Amino acid sequence: MVYTRYYGQFGGAFIPEILTATFDELNRAFNEAKEDPAFWQEFSDIMSTYSCRPTPLTFAENLTRYLGGARIYIKREDLNHTGAHKANNVIGQGLLVRRMGKRRVIAETGAGQHGVATATMAAKYGFKCTIYMGELDVQRQRPNVFWMERLGAEVVPVKDGTRVLKDAINEAFRDWVTNMDNTHYVLGTACGPHPFPEMVTFFQSIIGKEARRQIMEREGRLPSRVYACVGGGSNAMGIFSGFLEDTSVQLIGVEAGGKGIDTGLHAARLSSSDGSIGVAQGYKTYFLQDSDGQMKQTHSVAAGLDYVGVSPILASLKETGRVRFESATDSEVVEAFSLVLKKEGLVPALESAHAFVQAFKEAPNMSREDIILINQSGRGDKDIFTVADALGDPKWQEFIKTKAKEYNA
Ligand SMILES: Cc1ncc(COP(=O)(O)O)c(C=O)c1O
Repeated sequence: MVYTRYYGQFGGAFIPEILTATFDELNRAFNEAKEDPAFWQEFSDIMSTYSCRPTPLTFAENLTRYLGGARIYIKREDLNHTGAHKANNVIGQGLLVRRMGKRRVIAETGAGQHGVATATMAAKYGFKCTIYMGELDVQRQRPNVFWMERLGAEVVPVKDGTRVLKDAINEAFRDWVTNMDNTHYVLGTACGPHPFPEMVTFFQSIIGKEARRQIMEREGRLPSRVYACVGGGSNAMGIFSGFLEDTSVQLIGVEAGGKGIDTGLHAARLSSSDGSIGVAQGYKTYFLQDSDGQMKQTHSVAAGLDYVGVSPILASLKETGRVRFESATDSEVVEAFSLVLKKEGLVPALESAHAFVQAFKEAPNMSREDIILINQSGRGDKDIFTVADALGDPKWQEFIKTKAKEYNA
């Protein structure tokens, strides 16, 4: 029997028959773990000793003063081990892999963050690890490839299709079909066939649980609005799940507006009229696809948001109106990124900076009594090449040229 789950009309488990037994096993392991309080306890204990949980909530005093409206708080997922919320998901799935007695993990990665997180988890638990990455992304994200290999993972460049994230996902599924007896596919976001959207959300919900408790302790009341960037949707689902029942709290997901919605070079599946409903990669959601159902090319300055599909749970929350979706363009993102650095001394990932863009547009029009909460899903050190390019930093360009000369000498 294939277990499945829908969120409104979205979700499901459209998998090849050969994977049925593996999905049954995974569903069973996850359902048992979910009902077992000792499992959550073990998960949160590991996260507190290995990954800096609970991550703090930082009051952004200078930004609050500068923008002159709502009080701004930032949830610091950047302080996780490996620099992003991805750690929550991979450690959780690593514990499940141990429960299932498997010894090998595979994963897809676009920006490399999920690949590094998975390779880290594999090193900790002694699993063999293979990471699939589009050949173009391997070229663009060399520092993360370097770290994955140092951590002991094999990184396989995928040469099919447009050689980016969606192609890496297809290749990971192909591997899984061949090696399902000893292998678990650590999917990196709240997408894909059931149980992945629910399972990834379950592990990421630690963000929202903590954030709700922390804001109540600090301010004694709930925020008016919560902002998160949306790639596949895992950090957004993580923080939103702490506030879904609180109908006074507006939830805002911010997608990649890329070079502008009009240019077609973006990844705005839910916040533009370019997304349409379809089934691909094992689940039903909004995709950026052409009229034949072929996936379109997406674009974002933030590699982690550069994906054609989106969490079916978020697609459903869009339809019910519980979450509002907006987009931020690349240039707005680089501007917000610079403002956060200069005003607060924090370095958000370019992905996270999307959430800041929308919050900065809205905060000045809100009252001083309002509280807003922004999820800083990761840290931006990884973005040094992209940001330096976008800002055209001449000293950085000189440094790169000197390094290149050294190698050529
Ligand atoms: C720092 C950071 N934030 C956000 C994302 C987007 O993923 P998701 O929407 O699953 O949170 C990524 C993906 O790589 C990321 O690295």
